[in-house]
Order: sequence, then C-alpha cells, then structure tokens
Amino acid sequence: MANIQYVKKFLMLLFFGLLCGYFSNAQLSEKHTYFSPGSLWLDTNHEHINAHGGGIFEEDGIYYWYGEHKNKNSLAQVGVRVYSSTDLYNWTNEGVALSVSEDPDSEITIGSVIERPKVIYNEKTQNYVMWFHLELKGQGYAAARTGVATSKSPMGPFTYLKSYRPNAGQWPINFSEDQKLSSASDNKLEWWTPEWTTALKNGLYVRRDFEEGQMSRDMTLFVDDDGSAYHIHSSEENQTLHIAELTDDYLGFTGKWARIQPGGQNEAPAIFKKGATYYMVTSGLTGWAPNPARSFKATSIFGPWESLGNPAKGKHSKVTFHSQSTFILPVISKSDTSYIYMGDRWNPKNHIDGRYIWLPLEINNGKPEIKWQDTWQLQESTPAE
Ligand code: DGJ
Repeated sequence: MANIQYVKKFLMLLFFGLLCGYFSNAQLSEKHTYFSPGSLWLDTNHEHINAHGGGIFEEDGIYYWYGEHKNKNSLAQVGVRVYSSTDLYNWTNEGVALSVSEDPDSEITIGSVIERPKVIYNEKTQNYVMWFHLELKGQGYAAARTGVATSKSPMGPFTYLKSYRPNAGQWPINFSEDQKLSSASDNKLEWWTPEWTTALKNGLYVRRDFEEGQMSRDMTLFVDDDGSAYHIHSSEENQTLHIAELTDDYLGFTGKWARIQPGGQNEAPAIFKKGATYYMVTSGLTGWAPNPARSFKATSIFGPWESLGNPAKGKHSKVTFHSQSTFILPVISKSDTSYIYMGDRWNPKNHIDGRYIWLPLEINNGKPEIKWQDTWQLQESTPAE
C-alpha cells in the first residue's frame, strides 16, 4: 500500500515538473515584442545577451550589435561578440566577431581590456572597420589606446591591425599659439588644485602627450553624411573629449582634431545627427557607478558644442536610470526617424550580469530627452527600404 502511495506521489511530481518545464520553455521560446529596460535580455538561444558597452551597425535591414563579451570580471577573455536582429527585440548570437589572442605578445592577448567596440563600413575599401578602447594586459588603464580591426563581413571574423595613441605630433585645431608653449611648472602641479584645473584647460596633457599621441579611453565612431568618419574619445586623463577625423580608409587619423569641453570630464560618448545638427550624450566620470548624463549640440562636428544639460528626465534621472550611455541608434522607418538611447547598467561584482537600458530618445525644444519606460515598443518597426 505504502509503495502505491509513493508511486502516485512520484508520478504527480513528474507530471508537475514536466508541466512547469513546458511552460517555462514556452515562455523562453516566445518572441520578444517589446523592450524591457533593465530586465534579463535573452537571445534566441535563451541566454542573456553578452554585448556590453556596445554599438550597432545596420545594413540591408539587419542590425548587428557588437559589444564586450564580459565574464565575472571585466578583463577580455573572449573578445567582441556580435548579435544580429531584424526587429531590434530579438537577437541571435552570431559568435565572436573579434577574438582575443592566445599569443602573450599580442596587444589583444587574453587579459587585456577591450571596451566599447564600434563598427562602421568603408565604401572605398569595402571593409567593415571596428575600433575599440584597448588597454594592454597588466597595465590597468595606463596605456589608453584605441585599436582597429577589419573584416569583409559584418559578422567577422575581424582581423586585428594595430592600436594608436591618436594624433601624435599634431596640435588640435582649437588650440592657440600660446597654448602650444609648455611651461616649466607643467608637470609639478598637484591634481585638483585651481592651478592644475587652469593648466589642464590650457592643454597641460595635450602638450605632455604631443610626441607620443593623445590618450584614448571611452570612445565611439561617427560617419557623417559625406562619408567622413570621426573617432570621439575621452582623453587627457579622462578630463577632456577629443574628436578626431579618420583617414579615407577609416584605419588611421588624419591629424585634424579638436578638444571638446576641456576639463569637462566626459566619458561614454554617443553621437548622432538630426538634420544639420550634431547631438552628443555623455556621462560624467565615476567608474562603473552611474551619474547624471550630459548632452550637447553643435552645427559643426568640431564644435563649438553647446551644453544642454542632463537629457534624462524624471525619477532616477540623477543616475540616468542607473545606466551609462554607449550608443544612440537612429531607427529609420518609412515615415520618420526615431532614436534609441542605449546604456549599460554595469554590475562590477559580476560583469556578465550587466543589463541594457534602451529607451526612446526624443528631441524636444532642441534638446535630447530620455524618459523611463518599464516596457515600450517602437512606433513603427518597419525599416525604410
Ligand atoms: C567607465 C567607462 O565608461 C567604462 O567603459 C569602463 O572603462 C570603466 N570606466 C572602468 O572603470
């Protein structure tokens, strides 16, 4: 009798287990039909998307999302991952676009830092060109370099070419003759003193790094309507943004560059153009912790850039909804262009668990605005033909 009870219990548990399994799988295999910022975002293989500090490249109605493959810590163990999607909600893991190298002498060896990868297409060479923030293994964030890789397919594999300290031996276009002259006290100033701040704004670190090339940490890319491409990066010990023109093949720097907001401490630049106006969203400088975003606009990419304040509005705007900008994606539909703010909600205790905060970005009264939504959908998801 007791045995029959056990068998009954076992069969019931089995049935219940199978039922739960069926429903959770059914839920997992459902297609996403909306964005849910901050939630786990499962790819078509039911795994949380691993593409942090990312950027998107679109071609023929297919979106490619490139990002840092993170593990528990933030050092590069795998490289840059790429996902594809046609609707921006559902993403297929297409594998590793740029692999770290097993060669200990390679600049992109396992254990280096590879952050914020961005991809653009060069019409002349028919190359897909990836740039990313590179820090050399074992040097923390001291190297402050930018790396470049190319591929003949947006899915990769990308081949690593080289890294730069940009614009060695070139002065910025918005630098006076006086600023080019170094002063004896340049390297003796104590950080955060008023004298240091003045010297910084006057190009202390531009002069220091003139021969070797300027520092380049958080970065993004932008291709203008005429095909000219620009590399925008946090430089001068993260105190000042630089905007630098890339060569025709997008693989190097022309030497034409400008300083933006000297001493403004902008990181995480994300840039887009609406009509004839360039807009930029950045973060402040607080490591992995969120801070109030900033926004700017300009009529020339080299500036002057007018400060427009924090684009995040409402509750939690002071921490940008617990996120840091990485990219602004224009979504071009038949009738309109809308913009998506893409941010990272970092989890420095377990980087792989970092979340994605995608929200609509609108231009209201000439200023970018981002408002929180628990869930949301694109107005019109049909890409333009
Ligand atoms: C903030 C940057 O925006 C991130 O990409 C990363 O470099 C962290 N700093 C490292 O502390």
